[in-house]
Amino acid sequence: MYNILMTALETIQRRLSVRRYSDKSIETSVREDLGTYFEEAGKGLFGNLVRFKLLDLGPMSREEMRSLGTYGFIKGAKLFVLAAVKENRCAFEDIGYCMEKVILKATELGLGTCWLGGTFRRSAFAAKMELSADEMLPAITPVGYTNNGSFASDRVLRYTIGSVKRHPWRNLFYEVNDQQPLEKASAADFVDALEAVRIAPSASNKQPWRIVKGENSHQYHLYLKENKLYNRLLGKIRIQHIDMGIAMCHFEMVAREQGLSGGWEVANPGSKYDGLQYIATWVS
Ligand SMILES: Cc1cc2nc3c(=O)[nH]c(=O)nc-3n(C[C@H](O)[C@H](O)[C@H](O)COP(=O)(O)O)c2cc1C
Repeated sequence: MYNILMTALETIQRRLSVRRYSDKSIETSVREDLGTYFEEAGKGLFGNLVRFKLLDLGPMSREEMRSLGTYGFIKGAKLFVLAAVKENRCAFEDIGYCMEKVILKATELGLGTCWLGGTFRRSAFAAKMELSADEMLPAITPVGYTNNGSFASDRVLRYTIGSVKRHPWRNLFYEVNDQQPLEKASAADFVDALEAVRIAPSASNKQPWRIVKGENSHQYHLYLKENKLYNRLLGKIRIQHIDMGIAMCHFEMVAREQGLSGGWEVANPGSKYDGLQYIATWVS
């Protein structure tokens, strides 16, 4: 189902993790729309290029399909988007930024998705991606129609499993330092961009983004409240740095759509906070 009238924030609000898919195959034109978007979405904020591939399980034998394990977390999906990137500085932020664009495009096209960073057999999917020696496959997502034909009951399910829960503003956004919560009135034009970060997906829903508004009200500094153990569970893949890129994607998409000029830069945020790792600043 097409809905070209959705705003970026509406698309972001609509996205949710879909783990059960219907048999209904995706129309060729919808697949093509998604595929042609890959090139546009593949350029990261930090200069890394993300290589996407659509992997169709349809023509595969049962045995081959089984070898591509998603460990029972994902049911019925026949199509996956795989995202590879070269090992480089900020590659995880860039994969988060670029892949989230693809996920939101799929959402706009009426398709369900689910970020998978951990619960899939990485080596088997990597073989399908034909990775070069310096490339990694940090994440994949199934794409397809939900098995109930609508997002509505997924939303109900999501309430019951609790993943819809997000921290309130006061736990995530601060004024000038990391002590004083940012009031919506003080965020002015950036309320929706910040809200888009708050409702973003994150690995295990840990919501590790923190934003401090600069003294100059045209700066928003993004930090990672890292769970060091968790962020290192997947070998060289830093899953919480992927979360940072997703947040940057959401903030930027909403800010741009609302006509707010500016962009992400690595600036000097001026202050250091215990337990917070600086990532980048939105500079208007
Ligand atoms: C980087 C990243 C990795 C994720 N990895 C997995 C995964 O391996 N398996 C899974 O079932 N969900 C995974 N998720 C989905 C999150 O659990 C989900 O986004 C979060 O609970 C919020 O729920 P929502 O997406 O429905 O809003 C991942 C999400 C992100 C952002």
